[in-house]
Amino acid sequence: MATPALLASWFPNHSAKAPSMRNAPAFYRNLEEALDLRRAERSVFMVRSNEPAPGSIDFSTLDFLHLSASGAIRAAFLEELANNPKFELGAGGSRLLNGNSAYVEAAEATIADFHSGESALLFHSGFEANTAIMAAIPRPGDAIVFDALCHASMHEGMLASKALCKQSFKHNDVENFREVLLQALETEPLIKQGKRSVLVCLESMYSMDGDVAPLRELIEVAKELFPDGNAQFLVDEAHTTGVLGHQGRGFVNELGLENEVAIRMHTYGKALATTGAVVVSNQTIRQVLINHARCFIYSTAPSFPMVAAIKAGYKLMKTGQTEALQENIQRLVKHFFQVITENPVWDEANEEGILSIPLAEDWESRPFLTQVVPVMTRQRYTLWLCYHLQLAKISAFPIDYPVVPKGQGRLRVVFHATNTEAEVEKLAEAICEWAQEMLDIEESGKGSSKIPSAARRVQAQQAAVEGNGNGVHA
Ligand SMILES: Cc1ncc(COP(=O)(O)O)c(C=O)c1O
Repeated sequence: MATPALLASWFPNHSAKAPSMRNAPAFYRNLEEALDLRRAERSVFMVRSNEPAPGSIDFSTLDFLHLSASGAIRAAFLEELANNPKFELGAGGSRLLNGNSAYVEAAEATIADFHSGESALLFHSGFEANTAIMAAIPRPGDAIVFDALCHASMHEGMLASKALCKQSFKHNDVENFREVLLQALETEPLIKQGKRSVLVCLESMYSMDGDVAPLRELIEVAKELFPDGNAQFLVDEAHTTGVLGHQGRGFVNELGLENEVAIRMHTYGKALATTGAVVVSNQTIRQVLINHARCFIYSTAPSFPMVAAIKAGYKLMKTGQTEALQENIQRLVKHFFQVITENPVWDEANEEGILSIPLAEDWESRPFLTQVVPVMTRQRYTLWLCYHLQLAKISAFPIDYPVVPKGQGRLRVVFHATNTEAEVEKLAEAICEWAQEMLDIEESGKGSSKIPSAARRVQAQQAAVEGNGNGVHA
């Protein structure tokens, strides 16, 4: 169970270290100074065991279909190993030397076929695949136009990109996208003359906001302004692989836009509960990645277990074993929106700015829902809400700067295929119970001095942690 002591231990000590290191080598002192900047902002990351505490309900992991927790991917993986008893674990070299194999090529052919793409190319991770695409595909003189909330890996790739200009447009804003494309046409003569092109980079579903890209509209604008096909799209399907589309083919498939999107990047670390990523594209793009993506050329090829696990994931999807799981997610998210918006405290909490769930506003009119649902409250309340849930044995995490912009912290709730309706009701009930407590505190006029009960328990424990440096086990 998530005890106050455990929750208090989430937070590192924020005292600066560098000032006490005057006699230490500059090498380490300078590194600690860099960390001190993060400590001063109270935004130091820690690697710790953040698994949902035993007995708590999982509304936090990215195991969307629960293929990991349920053991389904393990069983499919072991079957794949049993079918290949003589496998060699390591690849033995880069794909360009000894590391290629009939096995990996067959896997890529299966993946391309599943996604109705001409070809597929595997990468060790989605981060690597995105950096490879961004660094290799835009040629010198081209432009990259990207959604302002695109993943860090795309930004990383842009640092290495030879593109002439890299310009963001406001998140999911079709009109601003049009303006940015027009600007590229007007300011770059070679683009206007049709001699250079634009790569438009998006995520299918934005994992901190749970909203989806207005892909159809963006494509329409791009086709209108670039009728010769010189504006092409990259869609990162990290959070929609396995979750949306026929049998989990993804968001682009859900919208029937496979022929309109030049590059789809699917990752396997989330819904498919394994690791790695693939780029689905035509042969030209695949060949450019093979020839220009340094992380593909200068890295050992994927190991047999990685490819076998990915194949196992595709087998589960192709045989329809994940379809009911996809439907469960849809049903559960609907149920959540319904239950929470019908709770007697919802309207008041909403009006008072204590609770808001942007995705709950028009959920009935959307053709499909997403499994990530941010819950917003006043900035200083986010952690308090999180403590309340954790102590109610509900695992959901706060997300704050630098992962989201300053002032836009939120509680991120992630729904899973195997959550039950009762668990969803418990979640909605716990959120509203906390909102009622906050309304009462604000109405009492002690809003700025009084803190809710769960936070009081955790803060007392945190004081003990900071007092003796080791309050976790106190
Ligand atoms: C949108 C998006 N793209 C790419 C990645 C990176 O994928 P991977 O975890 O396979 O490196 C992530 C996060 O993991 C992501 O959220």
